[in-house]
Amino acid sequence: MTEENTEGRAQIGLIGLGTMGSMLALNIAEKGFAIAVWNRTTTVTHAFAAGAGELAAKITPTDSLADLVAAIARPRAIILMVPAGQVVDDEIAALRPLLDKDDLIIDAGNALFSDTNRRAADAAIQGPRFLGIGVSGGEEGARHGPSIMGGGVRADWDRVEPILSAISAKYQGIPCATYMGEAGAGHFVKSVHNGIEYADMQMIAEVYGVMRDGMGMDAVAISGVYDGWNKGVLQSYLIEISAAVAAAIDPKTGSAMLDVILDRAGQKGTGRWTIIEAQQLAAPVPAIEAAVLARNLSARLDERRAGEAVFGAAPVKMAVGTIDLTTLEQALIAGKILCYAQGFALIGAAGREFGWAMPLPDIARVWREGCIIRSGMLNDMATALTDDPNRNLMLAPFFADLLKQTHGALRKVVAAAALNGLPVPALASGLAWFDMMRTERSTANMIQAQRDFFGAHGFERMDGGEGKHGPWGSHG
Ligand code: 6PG
Repeated sequence: MTEENTEGRAQIGLIGLGTMGSMLALNIAEKGFAIAVWNRTTTVTHAFAAGAGELAAKITPTDSLADLVAAIARPRAIILMVPAGQVVDDEIAALRPLLDKDDLIIDAGNALFSDTNRRAADAAIQGPRFLGIGVSGGEEGARHGPSIMGGGVRADWDRVEPILSAISAKYQGIPCATYMGEAGAGHFVKSVHNGIEYADMQMIAEVYGVMRDGMGMDAVAISGVYDGWNKGVLQSYLIEISAAVAAAIDPKTGSAMLDVILDRAGQKGTGRWTIIEAQQLAAPVPAIEAAVLARNLSARLDERRAGEAVFGAAPVKMAVGTIDLTTLEQALIAGKILCYAQGFALIGAAGREFGWAMPLPDIARVWREGCIIRSGMLNDMATALTDDPNRNLMLAPFFADLLKQTHGALRKVVAAAALNGLPVPALASGLAWFDMMRTERSTANMIQAQRDFFGAHGFERMDGGEGKHGPWGSHG
C-alpha cells in the first residue's frame, strides 16, 4: 500500500468519531495515510476535522455514507468504530449497497466473537469482505499505538496490515499487530485479553484491600508500594496506573481520590463473554470468573450493606506481622502467572475447537506493548510459549520456578485473608486451580461413585480391570 494513491482518494475510511474512533483516525493520518471519515452527526465530523491541526491535510470529512464511499480508493477499506452489537449490523447493512464485493469492512470495536463469526459468514456469501479486529489500549493507545488482534480471511488482513502495523504500538521496533485466525479469532483473543484485564485489575484491588483493611495503610503508602513493585517482576501498565490513582488527591476534599470513589464497579460485558465461552470449551478460567463475580457483587451495594448490618464488617485489621509486603508481592506474582496460564489455555482450546491459528507466542508478543495488560512478564511468556505452545504456562520451566518460589506466599495471603474476612476471590480461585492442576489423585473418584450410585453412569477402575459399576445393591 503506497502512502499516496494515484486517484488522490483516501486509502482508508473510518466510521464513528467517538473517543476511540477519532483517536484512531488521527493516528492513521499521522502515520501518513489519507483517511476519509464519517460520523452520524455531521457537526461532529466537521468539528473533528477542524480540530485535527496539521493532520487535517490527510483527513477528508464526509457528510453521508455515499460521500464517504466515494472518497475512498478502490478496493476500499472502511474501519467501523461504533458500539458493539446491533449498530455494527446496521452500519454493514447501510454500507452493503454502496460497496463493491471486494471492498473490506473492518470492525474494530469490542465485538462478541460469535457475532464476528456470523458477519464473516454473511460476508463470504454476499460481500463485501469483512475483518474483525480487537483493538486495545484505550484512548491513549488508539492515538499513539494500540495493540491489534486480527481475525478474518488472511488475504484481507494482509491487504490492510501495512496500515494496521504502522499505527500499532511497537515493542523494540516490532509492531503489535497480529493475525490470529479466521472469522472471530481476533475478537476472541481481545475478549480473553479483557478477561485477563479484569482478573489482573481484581488481583491488584485484592492486595489493595489487604493493605488498606488488613494492614491499615493509607492510599499514599499503598501508592509507594505499587511504585516499588513496578520496578520488579510485576512491572506493568496496570500496576503503574494503580500507583498513580492511589497517589491522587481529590481537589474537592483534599482526601485521597481512592477514598472518595464509590466501590461499585461497572463493566461492558467482555469479561462475562470470556467466562461463558470458557465454560462452553471446558477450559475454565477461575481467576477471570472471580473477577467478573467481584464486579457483579460490587454493584449490589444495598445487599452488601444489609449483610454488614447482620454479620458485622468482615475485613478486620490483621495482627502486625501476619503478612509483610514482600509476601504480598510474591502472592500477586503467583496469582498473575496463574491467571495468564488460564487465559492462554483458553485461547489454545478455542483454537483447537474452531480451527483457528491462534499463535500463542505471538499473542503474548502482541500484548507486550500498547494494550491495557502490557507488562514485563509477557516477554517471558512469549519465550515460554515459543519453546512449547501446547504446554500449560505454569509448567514452563521459567514460570514453574517462579511459581515454586511464590505459591507459598499466595497460600499465606489467601489463608490470612480468609481468617480475617478480607475477600480475595481471584487470588483464592487462582490458588485452588493451581492446587487442582498439581494434584494427581483428585477427589473426582467420589463424584464418579455418586454418579454411578444414583444414575448408573459407570466409572473406570484405577487397576484397569473389568466392572464399571459399584456394589451399591438395592441402594443403586
Ligand atoms: C482495552 C480495554 C477496553 C475496554 C475497557 C472497559 O483493551 O482497551 O479492554 O477495550 O472496553 O477497558 O471495559 P469494561 O467496561 O468492561 O471494564
